[in-house]
Amino acid sequence: MSDQQLSQKYLAYHGLFLPKCGYEDNIKDFKTFKVQEDDVFVITYPKSGTVWMQEIIPLLLNGGDFTPVQTIPNWERVPWLEATPALFVDKMISPRAMVSHMPYHLMPSSFFSSKAKIIYITRDPRDVLVSSFHFHRMANFLDDPGTFEEFAAKFLAGKVFYGKWADHVKSWRNPDIGDRILYIKYEEMIQDLRGVMECILCFLGKQLSEDALDRVYEHCQFKNMKHNKMSNYSLVPENFMDSSKSPFFRKGRQKKKITKGGVINYRMSFLEPVLYKKKPEISMEDKS
Ligand code: A3P
Repeated sequence: MSDQQLSQKYLAYHGLFLPKCGYEDNIKDFKTFKVQEDDVFVITYPKSGTVWMQEIIPLLLNGGDFTPVQTIPNWERVPWLEATPALFVDKMISPRAMVSHMPYHLMPSSFFSSKAKIIYITRDPRDVLVSSFHFHRMANFLDDPGTFEEFAAKFLAGKVFYGKWADHVKSWRNPDIGDRILYIKYEEMIQDLRGVMECILCFLGKQLSEDALDRVYEHCQFKNMKHNKMSNYSLVPENFMDSSKSPFFRKGRQKKKITKGGVINYRMSFLEPVLYKKKPEISMEDKS
């Protein structure tokens, strides 16, 4: 990537654009971060349901205690590993939950030999694109997206933060990860959040009573999370994230209806053009 392609707001990191804000001071600690055996990583390509999981995971890990989600902002509760001081993460109480948008091969060296568990969420890339477009409108630490068509071209070329969606998804389909990883689709969370939570509990070896799970399920509904000031970014200054341009909790749904056959299979259909070098099909009709 040449310096001319890089805007003032980004730094170049192993071929990826990363926002300078928050990363410039912390990314140096990322590669040498010491992963612990009972760490839980939530990995996503941006706009795939990260903040949703920052709400769910602490509740499932701590027996449904609402104190953290009601008193600690999400970026401290389940911090972004590459954008948070290592000293802060080192002091967290085990089991630690963290989020990251990094592709697999760029994870900290100690991650590869650890038993840390990974929850990887994918979302229909067409919805990621739309969500990301509106996020770029409100997040002042990212480039102005321009028109939807201009932004879509950048998204497809990977000239957005964290690069191409398909490269990210492919990197985390690595067989070396074995059974340390649980793959979840955002659309499954929309369709059957309770079922997904049960699946996560099983993966993490945790249990919750039916009543506690009901309460967690209710708390993590879009309509409720939207009003949790520890999660809706209303605590951050307007010059950082401007909700008057687009709220963070925007629509929280999928564009494509789920068919009778179950959850739509977008993964292969979107990866195909990338694998076989065909032109990807993205409809410009729905940008809202
Ligand atoms: P939209 O912009 O389509 O509304 P991330 O946290 O990775 O940045 O992803 C943000 C997207 O997840 C936003 O999508 C947001 O509304 C959606 N989201 C967050 N919490 C949600 C919830 N409880 N239910 C459904 N969608 C949620």
